[in-house]
Amino acid sequence: MSDLAKLIQQEIATSGPITFAWFMEQALYHPQWGYYTSPGTKIGRTGDFYTAPTVNPLFGTMLARWLYQMWDAADRPAQWVVAEYGPGTGILARDIVAALRRNHPDLYATLNYYLIEISDTLKELQQQTLTTGEPGADHKFHWVNRLAEISPGYITNGCILANELVDAFPVHLVRQSGGELQEMYVSLSNKEGDSVFTFVPGPLSTPELAEYFNSQNVQLEEGQRAEVNLQAREWLAEVTAHLQRGYLLTIDYGATSEELYAPFRHDGTLRCFHKHHLVDNPLTNLGGQDITAHVNFSTLITWGEQLELRKKELVSQPQFLINLGILDILKEQPDYTQDPEFAKITSAIKQLVLPGGMGGIFKVLVQEKAVSQGN
Ligand SMILES: C[S@@+](CC[C@H](N)C(=O)[O-])C[C@H]1O[C@@H](n2cnc3c(N)ncnc32)[C@H](O)[C@@H]1O
Repeated sequence: MSDLAKLIQQEIATSGPITFAWFMEQALYHPQWGYYTSPGTKIGRTGDFYTAPTVNPLFGTMLARWLYQMWDAADRPAQWVVAEYGPGTGILARDIVAALRRNHPDLYATLNYYLIEISDTLKELQQQTLTTGEPGADHKFHWVNRLAEISPGYITNGCILANELVDAFPVHLVRQSGGELQEMYVSLSNKEGDSVFTFVPGPLSTPELAEYFNSQNVQLEEGQRAEVNLQAREWLAEVTAHLQRGYLLTIDYGATSEELYAPFRHDGTLRCFHKHHLVDNPLTNLGGQDITAHVNFSTLITWGEQLELRKKELVSQPQFLINLGILDILKEQPDYTQDPEFAKITSAIKQLVLPGGMGGIFKVLVQEKAVSQGN
């Protein structure tokens, strides 16, 4: 049994069943043995899953174009901060800054790019990616543990980015049973003489869970399971507390409340990934597999509005990228029949835009704060 499994077993033995949110937090972010905090490749071909930045630098080029449009829409402030939460490999930061330097030198000149990463192991990987990347761009990158560290008080003007961050936040698991909402806890059971983790139902650990469904006007069907991401609200509160004026860009797989909790999703959306395979048991291979759940964009919007973040747009990833001109990139190839890069680019565009790839379930939410109120 792994050290992490032993630690969790001990916690259950001492305090009783634990919420799945606590279990998931340990499994992903335990400082020593968590999935994201322990050594090893997680993201990309030799890891467990792909993310858009690992598909092709084109994704970063498109986000650089979006950042430029937002900077322009905000009247080109002299200081423009970009802060990326959960930068993973650091590849997106590298590609965005390289594209800004190449295509938008005026924004590049004003830019400071901050990376906010919970995992020290990934922070080291990001430092490697970004110091061996674009020569001369190193001074643009800064690591902080939280937004508050960027500048005392507020980020006066800027954009906050989060690509596949929110799906990696620990979630509570609930189930509708006997006409009531129950929470699913993690406990221990005996299987052929061994202690194994198992789910047990219990009362809600916090009234926020019932309030969550009431506020979204959602009634689960009898027997239906679902996930609730309460950490997303804390994260939005942190963003809005430290961003005085600017935009928040959230890209992730997910849906609105109505789609997310529809009866056809009887078992919820919790999924695990290991070596590019879907694993259906989150209670095994602790710290060795990714655990993730779809993002509820409706709550990001309503919570955001309560926190002065106004929804600017919610669109599918394909629509977002097409609006930014991703398809025009194909026409820009100098001689696309001869260019060996062309095949890579068309394949990347297919993966980012078509329904069979990331185009199907990925959405983009843009929220803004105080942008129309002048510099
Ligand atoms: C699914 S990965 C996505 C990585 C990267 N954005 C990408 O698209 O390749 C989630 C990332 O978020 C980080 N993360 C999770 N919770 C975080 C938090 N509260 N603050 C900062 N980073 C966090 C993880 O360590 C990891 O780098």
